[in-house]
This record gives sequence, structure tokens and C-alpha cells, in this order.
Amino acid sequence: MPKHNRITNVLKSDAIGSQVLIKGWVRTKRGNKNVAFIAVNDGSTINNIQVVADVAQFDEETLRRITTGACIAVSGTLVASQGKEQAVEIQAEKITILGDADADTFPLQKKAHTLEFLREIAHLRPRTNTFGAIFRIRHALAFAIHKYFNNNGFYYLHTPIITASDAEGAGQMFRVTTLDMENPPRTPEGTIDYSEDFFGRSTNLTVSGQLEGELGAMGLGLIYTFGPTFRAENSNTTRHLAEFWMIEPEMAFYDIYDNMDLAEDFIKYLIRYVLENCADDMKFLDERFLKEEQAKKADERSEMGLIERLQFVLDNQFERITYTEAIDILLSSNHHKKGKFQFPVQWGIDLQSEHERYLVEKHFKKPVIITGYPKEIKAFYMKQNPDGKTVAAMDVLFPGIGEIIGGSQREENLEKLTQRMKEMHVPEDVLWWYLDTRKFGTCEHSGFGLGFERMMLFITGMGNIRDVIPFPRTPKNAEF
Ligand code: 4AD
Ligand code: MG
Repeated sequence: MPKHNRITNVLKSDAIGSQVLIKGWVRTKRGNKNVAFIAVNDGSTINNIQVVADVAQFDEETLRRITTGACIAVSGTLVASQGKEQAVEIQAEKITILGDADADTFPLQKKAHTLEFLREIAHLRPRTNTFGAIFRIRHALAFAIHKYFNNNGFYYLHTPIITASDAEGAGQMFRVTTLDMENPPRTPEGTIDYSEDFFGRSTNLTVSGQLEGELGAMGLGLIYTFGPTFRAENSNTTRHLAEFWMIEPEMAFYDIYDNMDLAEDFIKYLIRYVLENCADDMKFLDERFLKEEQAKKADERSEMGLIERLQFVLDNQFERITYTEAIDILLSSNHHKKGKFQFPVQWGIDLQSEHERYLVEKHFKKPVIITGYPKEIKAFYMKQNPDGKTVAAMDVLFPGIGEIIGGSQREENLEKLTQRMKEMHVPEDVLWWYLDTRKFGTCEHSGFGLGFERMMLFITGMGNIRDVIPFPRTPKNAEF
């Protein structure tokens, strides 16, 4: 292991007078003809360390090359800081330039940059305060997810990324092929002959690990997946990515109520974990959020601060209502009576984001879990309710986000499941292995999928999903 000190540890150290060696990137340099103050960051914390250099002790050329963005190594003595900003700083004895950053062409200058601009230089945005905080929190959140499930007896199951089935039946998949696109093999009927393809069949990137997750749960009892999922829907919104990460627990012997309890407990654990373990980064994002909100129009402004909102979610039970109750609330709202919804409201509709947001942000003012959706608007695998019209689906809706979790109890009855697959034109032959679980030792079971980036949006208070994943994939965008 290299022998330099990480800045986060140096800043916490009280070993005044000790020798330290730090390596990092210059954020700013200021000073006068006698002394230079250099703020250095190495990514270990949002806080910079201040390096103090007596100009007389360094050659002019070295000092000139210490510009914003340059990478330097500094050795010196840890001293108590005169400034109010920090407790300690480094009195530099030796400074080595590890990598220059030409001041005229380095895109990240001291001033504040817009998020749009930073998206265009996604290769450099990890060097900013905002993205440093976001990616550290992203790490902590991923770690907390594994920790939660491990603590609760779940096994991490690695489900495939390349699949031959369409779990959600939505048909919005990316094809995976090694066929020559210029000159593909043809069947006698003239269609592309996928039996000649790498896997001997047509394959795609997975939209969900659920179906394989169910296979795992039918032997291991409690499993979860956590991996990338892909959707080729042309949704250019602030909530959709073409490549996103999803966490999908699947539990044998859980009904829809157990499923809801788990989802709520899980989300609250994650929020608590980040508040407890990422305090500096959350404080920074809380201040950032406040500034963003102040710039908005009064009626669009969040009533709560970021941390306050997270605390509020921890302190309150999620509201649980049925789809039918949700429709009744929407129909009797003044909002509806005044014709303020853009999309029509009636039993049977797929709730639009404006409806979800009304329920969560205006009506209940807290997270809401909706169950019992019409079977027509949900996937084939969901448990059919005795009313013949609805399924035991559950969507968890969050303020400012909309749907953060989608899940259900699963239909474990073979006849009912195959009947529904026929009605929805889901091919039984491709899913013979899925149906086998219903033939051999079937049981009540449930699961859900949490969108990792949507959870990140809620925790960080960022407004665009492209800003909570290092290298976003969206329509017409796969640059980095
Ligand atoms: O509701 P969805 O489509 O559910 C499933 O895929 C189920 N198989 C999950 C399960 O029961 N195991 O997706 C689950 C969640 C959504 O609630 C949302 O948070 C997120 O995944 N999500 C997306 N996030 C970013 N970009 C997209 N295009 C997303 N589509 C879904
Ligand atoms: Mg959904």
C-alpha cells in the first residue's frame, strides 16, 4: 500500500507537529508574494486540506504549475490552522507536481458550473464537490443494501445480464447479437435466422432479474439481486435511464403485506444508514438543495429541507391504500374538478406521474404504497385477487420521485398463471423453467424491485437521474 495519508484522516488527526504526505488535486490557490494557500482534495472527503507554502522556499516554476486541476504530492508538518475553516493545515516542505493541468484549457475552473455543462464533461465531474459527494453516497448506499440483506438472512443471487426472456413483457429490450448486421443469415421465410446467432437463439439485455430471482427463492428462501438492468424505452425524462441498477429481493412464504413491510423497513434502513455514515456529504447536499429551492417559484418550492425530508420519511409510516381508493381520492379532488389533470382519471387507467405526485405530495404528503392494481396494466406474473379484476401488485411512491419501487405477490398457481400468460401472449415455451417452479413444490412468494438511481435521487435531492450515476446511458447518449 502506498505510504501517503488520505486527507480525511489528516483532517481528523490531532498529531500536531507530525510529518504527513498527501496526494491530491488542487482545487484553488490563493495568496500573496510571501505565502501561497493551496486547497487540495483527494476524494476521501468533501473537505479540502489547506497547504501553506512559504513562497521563498519554493522555486518559481513549481509554484506556477500549481493550478486548479493539477495533481500534486505535498509533504510537510501538520500544524494548527490560523483560519476558522479548518482545525489543521499542512506547512509544506516539499511539493511535487505529479500531473499538470493547463490553466487555459482545464474545463473545471473555480466558478460554479451548471449540471448540464458538467454532464458534457462527465469524465471530469468526479473532481467537483457535488459529484464527489454523490458518488461517495452512492457507494455507501450500495454497501448499506448488501449489509441490510446480509443482516436479515438474504443471499445475494447473481442473475444473468443476457437473457432470452422478457420478464416485464413490455418488449423494450436491447438485442444482444454477434450476427453480421450487414448480411444476417435468413430463414427460408426470409426473417433473420437467430438459430445461427451466438446463443442459438434471440437474446437481449435483461430488463429485470426477477424471474431467475424467483428460481433462487424457491430453494434458498430469501434472495436478492443487485445489478444493472436495461430498458430500450425512448423516455427522455429526469427519472429514466436506459441502463440503471435495480435491487430485487424475492421471498418464499411472503404475502403482499409481508412484502410491503419489508419494502418500508428496507428503505428506512437505507436512509438512516446514509444520514449516519455520510454526514459531511449530506450537509453539503442539504445546503445545495436549499439554494436550488430558493431559486424556484414559491409554489414549486419544497416545504422541507433535504435532511428534514429524509428525517420525516423515517418518522412516519408509509400510507397504504388500494388502487381503487387512489382513484376515488383523485376523482373527488378539487384538482380534478378544476380540470387540472392533463390525463383523464377513471378506474382502469395506468396512474400517470401527475396523479402519483398529487397523491404523495398534495394529498398524503408522505410516501404511499398502492396495492390492488387492475390486472390489465400489470405484468403476467402478479398474484390474481379473488375479485377477478385486480392483482396483488404494490408500487411505492415517493415525494418528488414518483414510483421508487414496483413489486407484487407472485401467482403461484400453475393454471391461473398459464391462463394469464395466454391472455397476455407471453410465450410459455420460452418460460418453461419458470413454470416448473409452479409444477414442483410451488408456494406463496413475493418480491419487489427498487430503482437504485431513483433512491439516489431521493437521498441526494438531485433533480435529474443523469446526475446520480457516474456515466448515464440515455437515448442518443453513451459518450463516456
Ligand atoms: O416497476 P418495475 O418495472 O418492476 C420490475 O422490473 C419488477 N420485475 C420488479 C420486481 O418485482 N422484482 O421496475 C422497478 C423499479 C421502478 O419502481 C423504478 O424505481 C425503477 O425500477 N425503474 C427505473 N429506474 C430508472 N430508469 C428506468 N428506465 C426505470 N424503470 C424502472
Ligand atoms: Mg413499475
